[in-house]
Amino acid sequence: MSASLIVGISGSASSQSYNTALVAAAGSLLGERLDFVLASGLEDLPFYTPDLDGDSIPESARRLRELVGRADALIISTPEYNYSTTALLKNAIDWLSRPYGAHVLVDKPVAIMGASQGLLGTVRAQLHLREVLHATNCDVVARPEVFVTQVGVKFNESHELIDSPTRSLVAELVAALLDLAGIDEARDVA
Ligand SMILES: Cc1cc2nc3c(=O)[nH]c(=O)nc-3n(C[C@H](O)[C@H](O)[C@H](O)COP(=O)(O)O)c2cc1C
Repeated sequence: MSASLIVGISGSASSQSYNTALVAAAGSLLGERLDFVLASGLEDLPFYTPDLDGDSIPESARRLRELVGRADALIISTPEYNYSTTALLKNAIDWLSRPYGAHVLVDKPVAIMGASQGLLGTVRAQLHLREVLHATNCDVVARPEVFVTQVGVKFNESHELIDSPTRSLVAELVAALLDLAGIDEARDVA
């Protein structure tokens, strides 16, 4: 039996991204007997159009669909751009959401969170993201909601999540995701 695979997705392509750091922190809180992979190359995806989606699709889209298809669960962290999630993440979800009804997000357990410099910590972005994910028929963890505010004091200069209450909350979210996915880390065999 192989180890369960958890895939992390950041909605930011910034080299200094707090959301990428937050997904990495969540990955580090997973038990050592689970596999964690951070999806890369979202910025290589062309904007979704049915014209590009057929028997052959762009390599970047094929790789993302293949990785997410193998995942037992997903952890997504979104920035807030103009009160919503990012175009980067929405475009990735659009690619993942086809072919209609038979795509890799159907019934996929998903945890969402987000980080921003402000006091609302991506509340508005996550509300939009929940709506978008609802369209894909994946299974989103309801609680806890993880809104990481004032990133400047929650992460250190190396972008490590150093704020204890936030680490505990992310650990709670990870536990809820594993529970939803029916993954018992103690029993999972690498
Ligand atoms: C185009 C743009 C729009 C933004 N809009 C918001 C916003 O609506 N609310 C917010 O809290 N922060 C907003 N920000 C600030 C981001 O939250 C901040 O840059 C954050 O660090 C981005 O996430 P990242 O570090 O993972 O790239 C915006 C930033 C950009 C570049």
